[in-house]
Amino acid sequence: MDNALRKFIEDMPKVELHLHIEGSLEPELAFKLAQKNGVTLYKDKEKTIPFESAEELKAAYKFDNLQEFLDLYYRGMSSLKTEQDFYDMTMAYLTKAKSQNVTHTEIFFDPQQHMENGIAFETALNGIHRALKDGEEMGVTSKLIMSFLRHLPETAPEGVERAYKDAFETLELAKQHLDKIDGFGLDSSEAPFPPAIFERVYEEARKTGKPVMAHAGEEGPWEYVRDALDILKVDRIDHGNHCLDNEALVQRLVDEKMGLTVCPYSNLRLNHTTDFATDTKLTDMKQHPIKKMLDLGLKASIHSDDPAYFRTDEGKGGYMTENYLAVAEALNLSRDDIVTLARNAIETSFMSPEQKTAKTQELDAYTQRADVFQKYVNQVGGEQARTA
Ligand code: ADE
Ligand code: ZN
Repeated sequence: MDNALRKFIEDMPKVELHLHIEGSLEPELAFKLAQKNGVTLYKDKEKTIPFESAEELKAAYKFDNLQEFLDLYYRGMSSLKTEQDFYDMTMAYLTKAKSQNVTHTEIFFDPQQHMENGIAFETALNGIHRALKDGEEMGVTSKLIMSFLRHLPETAPEGVERAYKDAFETLELAKQHLDKIDGFGLDSSEAPFPPAIFERVYEEARKTGKPVMAHAGEEGPWEYVRDALDILKVDRIDHGNHCLDNEALVQRLVDEKMGLTVCPYSNLRLNHTTDFATDTKLTDMKQHPIKKMLDLGLKASIHSDDPAYFRTDEGKGGYMTENYLAVAEALNLSRDDIVTLARNAIETSFMSPEQKTAKTQELDAYTQRADVFQKYVNQVGGEQARTA
């Protein structure tokens, strides 16, 4: 790729809207926390073979599909026990984000899984929240979004003993902390759990006045994107790739300026199915539909999803810069495409109108400065410009 475009992407101020904080837990930190807390991380679901090192854990980050990833992701989370563990994980992410010029981030957390691991709702929430406050001091603003796990029921059957909290119980807990929770999402295995299952809890969640969103069209068909709009009445769609299978839906999303938070490395590493009829998988970033989405006028943007798990070929974490660089390279994106992606993220964020204006101005100023620099490079040549 053109060096100027690479540098432009690296230094560009970025907004992240789709990041599972537990998916930012790097293998080294997961392993360290597990050792500290006396937790064994297992290679298999049956919990018979332990991982012996962080390297072994990292080497296991090869997935055929979403479910294989989720199985390991939930096991990785068991290393988190104390409020400080949640703080440390979140701070590690924010430090990385800042180093990549992410200036605003909207992150998910999965309290139902932590509660199943015996961790109080408040332990996870307070640790993450404290780090987000410190992150703001570092210059990274944020929103915290509580996700419901779609493999758990909206309401648990009565009289059945269980370790988990259902979605309604979790929403009740969240309602006690609306000063720290900025919205509600829906994640985990998608295909077996259509949006309609969560109609009532979404209706209740919307009464808080906070924005709601849902993963849709990642593993599920285009109808799940439609149902997330019609039944859950979402303000943003996470992923949304399969909307492309229905022209009328695409037009509706364009007309409604609906944000789609697209995650390229996640799609690649999870062998995203691009065509259900022929079972065609996304096995090369050159097949990624993000350029097509932009050309159709969709408000799509780029995010990292679970950056510690969806790594580059060189083994680096797949954070924001890695995702932008990968699609820019594979799809030959122009600088205008990159700026459109960054602008779409600002526009479809849950920042206040004033904050959005400020971020847009910051992006415009950055682009203009890059123009001036490029003109200078063209005049004097690259080498002289670099040493000037
Ligand atoms: N939880 C964490 N990452 C996820 C993804 N990509 N899809 C659904 N649920 C998730
Ligand atoms: Zn996600």
